[in-house]
Amino acid sequence: MRYNIFSGTNCGSECLEAVRSLSGSGPLLDGPDIAAYEAAFAQAAGTRYAFSLASGRMALYRLLEALDIGPGDEVILPAYTCVVVPNAILYRGAVPIYADIEPNGFNIDPAQAERRLTPRTKAIIAQHTYGRICDVDALNLLAGRRGIAVLEDCAHSLGACHNGKPSGSLSLAAYFSTDHSKVISTSTGGMITTSDEGLARRLRALQGETPFLKASRARAILATFVLEYVLMDPRLYRAGRLAHRLGGMLGLWAYFADELSLTRPTAYPYPARLSCAQARLGLSQLRRLEDNLAWRRRSAALYHRALTGSALADDPGHAWLRYTWLVEDREAWVRLLRPLLDMGIWFTSVAEGRSRDLREIGYEPGSCPVAERAASHCVNLPTHPRVLRPELLAERLAWAAAEGSGRYRLLATQLPTTGGSR
Ligand SMILES: Cc1ncc(COP(=O)(O)O)c(C=O)c1O
Repeated sequence: MRYNIFSGTNCGSECLEAVRSLSGSGPLLDGPDIAAYEAAFAQAAGTRYAFSLASGRMALYRLLEALDIGPGDEVILPAYTCVVVPNAILYRGAVPIYADIEPNGFNIDPAQAERRLTPRTKAIIAQHTYGRICDVDALNLLAGRRGIAVLEDCAHSLGACHNGKPSGSLSLAAYFSTDHSKVISTSTGGMITTSDEGLARRLRALQGETPFLKASRARAILATFVLEYVLMDPRLYRAGRLAHRLGGMLGLWAYFADELSLTRPTAYPYPARLSCAQARLGLSQLRRLEDNLAWRRRSAALYHRALTGSALADDPGHAWLRYTWLVEDREAWVRLLRPLLDMGIWFTSVAEGRSRDLREIGYEPGSCPVAERAASHCVNLPTHPRVLRPELLAERLAWAAAEGSGRYRLLATQLPTTGGSR
């Protein structure tokens, strides 16, 4: 039994649902399940409206478009993110402005964000990295005074709450990702949430003009979902991993691989809408969200106790997409856990997905040292429900932590940062 970091939240009945969709049962592209999924998602995010798209990056692009953010406008974002976030800003003709993260966590530091404000600032991205709620109150305060929009990046944080309100409802609007590495998975997928009437009207109008992906691509996404579910079964680890690599080499997997594109992709509609078949997967995932989150919390608590010897405070301000900490020697930890799983190493760049030529996406190397340190020293463990025996991982962690020095020296464990459930 060995564990993989992806495809961890889905179950056999969802795999069968995708097979049924592939064999022609139920609408593939447009259909009533989309509205049902959006309504259920809005409820989970605590908002009045939700609008589904084919990916999180497209959701951000669409949100910027709806807010008329374009050429010359500046958008402040954390310098510890996925490259598709600055890309979406660039595709709008706007300028990404990077702010450093907090010294004791992975979220944007509001004081650094404040230093980056200019008269051209139109939005601040409040990214809840790894599922931990950022100091969104401070960002709302900062932005509200100046008429700037705060947009939550909830790609990692579905289900995390702040003062009893779910992420996605903590600012003007939010965007989510539901790809295969996120809290819930529809293979690929994204969502916008808001309770603002005017913005919702604009989004609805834009959605009306937005195409679906081609049927062949929608089917390829479903086939990827089915095959990943099978190949990433912990019991099939070796053969599955090999087959997955081969599939990658043969170009079989349907992901959006536009990370290095500096211009808006043209090979498929960008943005595009989420398919109805994927919406059915999303509905099933939302029904199981509470169990999924409880499993993640329990796994994180096991890892945390193993590494630090202390209990993890019961904290609704964290969805625990992954358990992340900083180490001196990353390779040593990867080797230590290799017999049990593929350890996650994410984000290894200030803009994960791009490791070089960061100036091309507007980042000045050296300008955000806290984020650069995190990118150089982070490791993470999966917390998803397909890691059936997190206790085994915890045992290894405890052993390494007891060594306490040399190869296994810890630089920082996942600390409660500001924001969250204060
Ligand atoms: C912080 C963050 N925001 C946005 C995204 C974009 O999501 P998607 O891959 O669905 O476009 C990701 C993807 O990993 C992410 O990590």
